[in-house]
Amino acid sequence: MKGVVLISGSGSNLQSIIDNANDINLDIEAVISNKEAAYGLERAKKANITTHTLDHKQFSSREAFDQNLSQLIDQYNPGVIILAGFMRILTEEFTQKYTGKMLNIHPSLLPKFQGLNTHQRAIDAKETEHGVTIHFVTAELDGGPIIAQSQIKVLEDDSAESLAKRVLIEEHKLFPKVIHWFTQNQLKLNDNKVTLDGKLM
Ligand code: GRF
Repeated sequence: MKGVVLISGSGSNLQSIIDNANDINLDIEAVISNKEAAYGLERAKKANITTHTLDHKQFSSREAFDQNLSQLIDQYNPGVIILAGFMRILTEEFTQKYTGKMLNIHPSLLPKFQGLNTHQRAIDAKETEHGVTIHFVTAELDGGPIIAQSQIKVLEDDSAESLAKRVLIEEHKLFPKVIHWFTQNQLKLNDNKVTLDGKLM
């Protein structure tokens, strides 16, 4: 299946997707970043993947940015759009256009800790478990139907950094697995409900 990956930063999740691309039946047609300095762009270039930077600051509105992003994505006619650390709030129009074919990774056990600084917030809330969620993207920020989660224990001496490191290890395992379900047409979104091989998740 053809895919386009959207990033904003380091791109360690992108790297795990690149490393697993053959096994998960994914052709990464392009990597798009809203930040020119995103290290993930270097990772993509090393893997001979086409890259684009679409700087959101060059656009007068969120709508204008999303329209341009959408045009860029559509050039590749992807079966899946993968948000791998893409730190932008998307318009309803954009998310609706790609409903059921856009996946996002979020570093918390959603619905807990939507938004930013999830690791520190989990520590502050004295959570004993934390983790990562992969979900279909809808207009609600970090609120789309959940596909899969991985949990880890929060240790007594954890800092946001140490917790983030252990969550990332889980992210790198879980995202390729979920993408594989999708490229094999096992994973579907219908009426806001997620099914895997026809069974409700
Ligand atoms: C990850 O923790 C991801 O879950 C979050 O942003 C981080 C991106 O990391 N949305 P990377 O760019 O994949 O290294």
